[in-house]
Amino acid sequence: MIRKIAILTGGGDCPGLNAVIRGIVKSGIIHYGWEMFGVKDGFDGLIEGDNRIFKMDLNTIRGILPKGGTILGTSNRGNPFKYPIKTKHGIELTDVSYKILSTLLRNGIDGLVVIGGDGTLNIAHTLYEKGANIVGVPKTIDNDISATDYTFGFQTAIDTATDAIDKLHSTAESHHRIIIIEVMGRDAGWIALNSGIAGGADIILIPEIPFTYESIIKKINTRKSRGSAFSIIVVSEGALLKGKNTVTVNREAEKGDLPRLGGIGYSIEMKLNEITDLEVRTTVLGHIQRGGITSAYDRILSSRFGVEAANLVAQKKFGYMVSLKGTTIIGVPIKEAIGKRKYVNPNGQLVETARRLSISMGDE
Ligand code: F6P
Repeated sequence: MIRKIAILTGGGDCPGLNAVIRGIVKSGIIHYGWEMFGVKDGFDGLIEGDNRIFKMDLNTIRGILPKGGTILGTSNRGNPFKYPIKTKHGIELTDVSYKILSTLLRNGIDGLVVIGGDGTLNIAHTLYEKGANIVGVPKTIDNDISATDYTFGFQTAIDTATDAIDKLHSTAESHHRIIIIEVMGRDAGWIALNSGIAGGADIILIPEIPFTYESIIKKINTRKSRGSAFSIIVVSEGALLKGKNTVTVNREAEKGDLPRLGGIGYSIEMKLNEITDLEVRTTVLGHIQRGGITSAYDRILSSRFGVEAANLVAQKKFGYMVSLKGTTIIGVPIKEAIGKRKYVNPNGQLVETARRLSISMGDE
């Protein structure tokens, strides 16, 4: 019998998390008659124990549908298999996953819905293999999770980036400047490619297609010769200079963490200043892309994911996550999604569309 369900959000926050939580809670209480619980701050909450788990009712979720962030709180540091514990030898990464399993057992939780990106789903899958009844929901603005066509949060991030490109367009044009807009996405160029096309960028640089400065300058000069003395460059934070194998890192990885990407926009600006007399400015959009009001598209996708996650729990399809395939939400094994990322196909239709629109991808 399924009676008590808990929900946690892990990894970086993302528009639509609250809409997913709402979908699971509404469906859980009204349709299935379950008792619903929230776990605070991702896996940290389950590691730290009972006082981080709280009962959720319909009042808890009132008004959260459009809100960015997560009412549960999140953490992208709490990997229970490599948990930083202070010892007399310094910080040691320790496996504390047994604490999660015992918190779930002690609280009589029959199913745990884990909403997170690749890292969080990886942890969820290992916990499932150790006996936890887990269902996953794929989340990330980066849209780089395999086994789902889209993750929620991605479209809102594109809307935000597109709005920024629109705003920067007018100032670039007025000042005859080159404006570089650095967007997020880690090693996947989805946000840059989509917002670049939507915002009418002139040059889009993504990790999947290494760029050269010759190509950037060629495009800027072609535009100049056609009467456009300004250009818009959208660069993904993980974009790579041809022949250089490492991404631009803003902060090196700390123990158990990923390196923080960022800074490629400024390094392109510096280089263009060095080799041309162009006037260049850079805007780094950063975490703005993760916040704000959730777009209508993401509210719908998140609500569908939430409702289907409850269905998977009801069917005891543990070890599964919800996924969008075409226009249908289905369940797929979490292990199909983890470990392999979904990248932009450099020879795919979307890149080809960009090229036909006379957008330079920085490689020709
Ligand atoms: O994975 C989502 C994401 O926003 C990436 O696009 C970005 O590189 C990273 O998270 C930033 O993480 P943090 O919030 O730890 O700075």
